[in-house]
Amino acid sequence: MPRISYVNGQYVTHSEAAVHIEDRGYQFADGVYEVCEIRHGYIVDITRHLDRLHRSLSELRIAAPMSRAAMVHVIRETVRRNKVKNGLFYMQVTRGVARRDHVFPAEGTKPSIVITAKSTDASVIAKKNANGIKAVTVSDNRWDRVDIKTVGLLPNVMARQQAKEAGAQEAIYVDRDGFVTEGAATNVWFVDADGTLVTRPAEHGILKGITRTTLLDVGAKLGLKVAERKFTVAEMLAAREVFITAATSICFPVVSIDGQTIANGHPGSVSQNIREAFFDVAEKIAI
Ligand code: PDD
Repeated sequence: MPRISYVNGQYVTHSEAAVHIEDRGYQFADGVYEVCEIRHGYIVDITRHLDRLHRSLSELRIAAPMSRAAMVHVIRETVRRNKVKNGLFYMQVTRGVARRDHVFPAEGTKPSIVITAKSTDASVIAKKNANGIKAVTVSDNRWDRVDIKTVGLLPNVMARQQAKEAGAQEAIYVDRDGFVTEGAATNVWFVDADGTLVTRPAEHGILKGITRTTLLDVGAKLGLKVAERKFTVAEMLAAREVFITAATSICFPVVSIDGQTIANGHPGSVSQNIREAFFDVAEKIAI
């Protein structure tokens, strides 16, 4: 079955899907995106993802390409046409196509929108959950508006590649004061000695992950103590458990950082309990 993607009003065969060479996303990374999970035939947390997309658009003064209802319609249709039951959809909106010039194009330039959907391999995710993953720390060299989910991900690409070349699966950013910010494409959490779940506040320095937000609801439901505060690499290394969260994976346990084993080197129970409770708490809409 050929993959189908949505590009500016049309459903097209994925291998032939294309945008113009002067799309500002292509030339300036002048666009934003969302990645949203599809699980057991449900789209997960779509309201929060679309809220964040609209916030990103308005921070960059890019017009919404269509109404929210229309967006939900084309997302569902793209997911349906690709028969995705477990996987994700990716949505990107850019400032549109215009002759190359750094300043914004003329008023009325139509934003571009692309939506793709794909299935993910549950066995790969299960293996990472069972064994945990490795991470390395890298210095955070990104701009100071990482709260906007832009397609300008070059530092994240370089960091993930650095992790891969070190035999790890995620790079954890550390700011210039020695505090952990987030992963190259995840938020970072740890469980401290008295069982408190700790993650950095989402005011500054990180993307406010949707999984992170829902996980705070899960923590409340499970009666966990949660602290949103800055934390150092040393605190993280001494943790009972470390894990990372993102819409693509909910939460992966981290069992080694910079070659140092976390706790006993095995995934902990808190991340497992959270993962199990996640879908009861998250918003789900049928495809
Ligand atoms: N990344 N921080 C960064 C820098 C991210 O890129 C992501 C998500 C997150 C987690 O956010 P959420 O829980 O909303 O997925 C945090 C997506 C999955 C990606 O770029 O593929």
